[in-house]
Amino acid sequence: MFRTHTNGELTLQNLDQNVTLTGWVQTIRDKGFMIWIDLRDRYGITQLVFDADRSSAELLDNAKKLGREFVIQVNGKVIERQSKNPKIPTGEIEILVENLTILNESQLPPFTIEDETDGGEELRMKYRYLDIRRNPVKDKLIFRHKMAQKVRNYLSDNGFIEVETPVLIKSTPEGARDFVVPSRMNPGQFYALPQSPQTFKQLLMIGGMDRYFQIVKCFRDEDLRADRQPEFTQIDCEMAFVEQEDVLEIFEGMTATLLKDIAGNDFGKFPRMTFADAMKKYGNDKPDIRFGMEFVEVNELVKGKDFKIFDDSELVVGINVEGCADYTRKQIDELIDWVKRPQIGASGMVWIKYQNDGVVTSSVNKFYSEEDLQRVAAAFNAKPGDLILLMSGNENKVRTQLSALRMELGNRLGLRNPKEFAPLWVIDFPLLEWDEESGRYHAMHHPFTSPKPEDLELIHTEPGKVRANAYDLVLNGNEIGGGSVRIFDKDLQSRMFDLLGFTKEEAEAQFGFLMNAFRYGAPPHAGLAFGFDRLVAILDGNEVIRDYIAFPKNNSGRDVMIDAPSPIADLQLEELALNVDIKE
Ligand code: AMO
Repeated sequence: MFRTHTNGELTLQNLDQNVTLTGWVQTIRDKGFMIWIDLRDRYGITQLVFDADRSSAELLDNAKKLGREFVIQVNGKVIERQSKNPKIPTGEIEILVENLTILNESQLPPFTIEDETDGGEELRMKYRYLDIRRNPVKDKLIFRHKMAQKVRNYLSDNGFIEVETPVLIKSTPEGARDFVVPSRMNPGQFYALPQSPQTFKQLLMIGGMDRYFQIVKCFRDEDLRADRQPEFTQIDCEMAFVEQEDVLEIFEGMTATLLKDIAGNDFGKFPRMTFADAMKKYGNDKPDIRFGMEFVEVNELVKGKDFKIFDDSELVVGINVEGCADYTRKQIDELIDWVKRPQIGASGMVWIKYQNDGVVTSSVNKFYSEEDLQRVAAAFNAKPGDLILLMSGNENKVRTQLSALRMELGNRLGLRNPKEFAPLWVIDFPLLEWDEESGRYHAMHHPFTSPKPEDLELIHTEPGKVRANAYDLVLNGNEIGGGSVRIFDKDLQSRMFDLLGFTKEEAEAQFGFLMNAFRYGAPPHAGLAFGFDRLVAILDGNEVIRDYIAFPKNNSGRDVMIDAPSPIADLQLEELALNVDIKE
């Protein structure tokens, strides 16, 4: 037997037992006549002791050869420790080593394998396998595994069947660019990696699977952020013979089960908000509702007072930052600079202070009497001590800018407690979204999403106003999942492609297989996909998904450990009929 126990389990209960342990050398304390070693594995740390009085000289010599991260096997007796360490489960015992085998040596690691390490991000990515030895990384992977287990159990218990769908496919229209794979056997032709298994899960419904799920890798060639990776994992689901309500209920149940395990409390029914309300109240389709600062629109109260900036704006809107009227000039200027940064792009910001002495003052006193300002303060339900911040401009832009400010203040004021969870369904998304660049409508979710029947007649007159049976699940200001009721009628689907600017030929070439399947008795169906990495990160009180992926890509989409992507040999290029000269 390689080992009788792991390094996390021996206690005083095991006193005097002869045990064999394996693991990595974490720390060595060499006092000459006595050597202590912390031996580490996935399960914990056990202290080993080599003692000149009780061990042979040869054993002590061998122990002196050990270095950090050596892999060893030891055999010895469990004894009680002199100075106990209450912080670890094995802290009351140590192993008096009788035999030591060095299984493998190790070079000195490029950073310390400790919870707080001296290694920078890039270095740790390059040696990810060493980073995984550290508790903070290891624990996140274990947490991810536990969540996956719970998800599988829940879905299985609810009649969902896990089915694998192919990875070498044709382009799926989820809105990002595809990663493509050249086909050697079909020169000049390419597979695309799935941005999601969307079309396949719909085909599974036509295939009668009724309830499908898959924990599945998806690939999207898009710009990366903290909550985005080029390859990420979805919990992808689809159900037949259901309405939107059935889908929401099942996945609310799943999310509530996970949340209950973590937070300990029941979440009751998740609140719901329409897309239109979310945009109006929070300027954002994924609002963090753990804190207030809801938008208040004040056009009627501030226009017509000769303040040209407001008079010329489509929308004047603001937030009440409670208890912040004592912000200094410097603090407010810093906030104004913050919103003026190119990433936010605001032209400026007006402040109104409801001072503790009851006086209301502002940065635009020249244009507004105190009574005018009082009326604005009243619209915000402001109290003495509150600070109102107003922004103005184009309706959509100003909402986005104010939303960014609201989130920033939420962070700065500590209102986004990672251990508090606020799930929210956002429903009734628009079916289409105008794209300035291409000068046409795009599907806001994807082209298979069904319009609300009651809005159908607007489709040719005011397409932008048509709402979809589409929904997102938002958790703490992050979109953790999204889905829709699908079109299952081939004529409606073909009208939809038409609306999105596909010619008949293009629609046929790209989605002919699906349209064809619709001819053979497609059942009504609907579904949703969770971003699993995001879900796991947020449930663990984090927003950076990279930490929850064993081998993630960096911000340039590179795996710096294996050095990918990388050039391929000329011969391989030739075989793939990629005879373009891409060398410098
Ligand atoms: P959608 O495109 O909304 O829907 O994706 C579902 C969820 O996947 C997560 N997600 C990502 N996570 C990490 N990195 C990325 N690059 C990334 N992109 C998306 C988000 C998102 O909510 N087929 C549809 C689902 C459906 O209609 O059933 C789809 O893929 O959390």
